[in-house]
Amino acid sequence: MASDIAERRAQACEKFMTRVHKITAKEGITPSALHAIKKRLVALAEKTDLFPLGDFEMPVAQGRNHPLLVEEGDGHGLYLTIGLPGKEAAPHDHGVWCVNAAVSGQERHTMYRRASDDQVTQVGEVMVAPGNGMAMADHDIHATAVVGSEPAIGLALYGYALTRFPSVVWFHPEFSSVRATASRRLTA
Ligand SMILES: [Fe+2]
Repeated sequence: MASDIAERRAQACEKFMTRVHKITAKEGITPSALHAIKKRLVALAEKTDLFPLGDFEMPVAQGRNHPLLVEEGDGHGLYLTIGLPGKEAAPHDHGVWCVNAAVSGQERHTMYRRASDDQVTQVGEVMVAPGNGMAMADHDIHATAVVGSEPAIGLALYGYALTRFPSVVWFHPEFSSVRATASRRLTA
């Protein structure tokens, strides 16, 4: 039954979030903590029966985020994300840590580091596909592209809910362009 799945999904998300807090309470937001959280999120995303597509509306275009578990105040936000084939995002820095895992489909994450005020240099690449996730620290920089002909359905955990996001900085090195979106930290 659909309501049964929704209930089991809510319980699984609660359990996951409890684990996240146990990990970060012990060691803070460190590379090893993010790695441990990533493993947990990959395991949650592998429970594909909890995330039937019928429960989540597809994007009209590009992408869409469905809140799964958004904590109060300055807590974390867990979302189901849908990116349509061909969706791309230029290199950007969220200003807050995040962890991604795939339910289905594939999204390529190209990792960069800032080389100068307006330039970034590629330092790696991760394919987020079932069984494989990625984690970023507060000021890591990534670009994303949904690859293949299937939508990329994923889970994303952010240090802050999207409604309370810090400024996101976008890099277009070919134009020596760096632009920051307004922070939602002060208004939320
Ligand atoms: Fe991003």
